[in-house]
Amino acid sequence: MAAIADTAALQAALRTERLVLPVWSDDDLEHFAHWCRDREATKFVLRRPLTDGELRRHHLRSLRAWHNLGIGKRAVLDAETGRWLGFVDICFVGPGKGCRRDDVEIEYFLMPFAWGRGIATEAAGAVRDDAFARAGIQELLGRFRVENVASGRVLEKLGFTFLRHHRFRDGAVVEVMRLTREGWLAFPSPSPAPPDEDSARGPAVPRENLWL
Ligand SMILES: CC(C)(COP(=O)(O)OP(=O)(O)OC[C@H]1O[C@@H](n2cnc3c(N)ncnc32)[C@H](O)[C@@H]1OP(=O)(O)O)[C@@H](O)C(=O)NCCC(=O)NCCS
Repeated sequence: MAAIADTAALQAALRTERLVLPVWSDDDLEHFAHWCRDREATKFVLRRPLTDGELRRHHLRSLRAWHNLGIGKRAVLDAETGRWLGFVDICFVGPGKGCRRDDVEIEYFLMPFAWGRGIATEAAGAVRDDAFARAGIQELLGRFRVENVASGRVLEKLGFTFLRHHRFRDGAVVEVMRLTREGWLAFPSPSPAPPDEDSARGPAVPRENLWL
């Protein structure tokens, strides 16, 4: 991993065609809590809802990760409207998940109203590139419950390939995919979509499609 310095590059928001991805901040806590309480959004990710204390500790760890590691969570905002759509993360997998201590993974989580528009692929693609290009990561893992087909598809579209399955004691089976630095360098960048009426600039999520 690159040396950690409080540089502009470290603090800068990433930008994509439709999104802005700022480094995690206290502005995100309320949205994050809202996401964590959404049963549909969390069904493949959380075994039970987080308590307020757990939420707050998770948030503080996310803030510290940037300071200590130079990688971490980012909010996913609609570039046109500023609306909070979800979050992405580059982090250590952590213990008890069948991975090595130093394994680093990519994660992406959106509010349900934002699903099905290519937003996870766009956001995760930007943090994948930042992890390899700026942070000097050598290998990224991506993990998802095998039932979470959309999540696996996001990883495939980003160049990840199958590594193994891991079965937890409660029977949940997680697929682990991997993208090495060499794989990333060889992976073709998506070419920009040809301009047509549908691809004209606009919000990533239509304004009228508000909270369900
Ligand atoms: C997983 C998640 C991030 C996907 O977000 P998204 O913005 O809808 O994803 P994208 O639109 O970029 O891509 C989804 C892909 O999966 C496909 N897909 C979606 N649902 C699917 C399903 N049930 N079966 C098969 N493919 C499916 C889509 O067609 C798309 O592939 P395509 O571009 O080849 O058509 C979103 O559903 C989410 O936030 N879920 C809750 C959190 C979560 O599970 N995160 C992953 C943690 S491992």
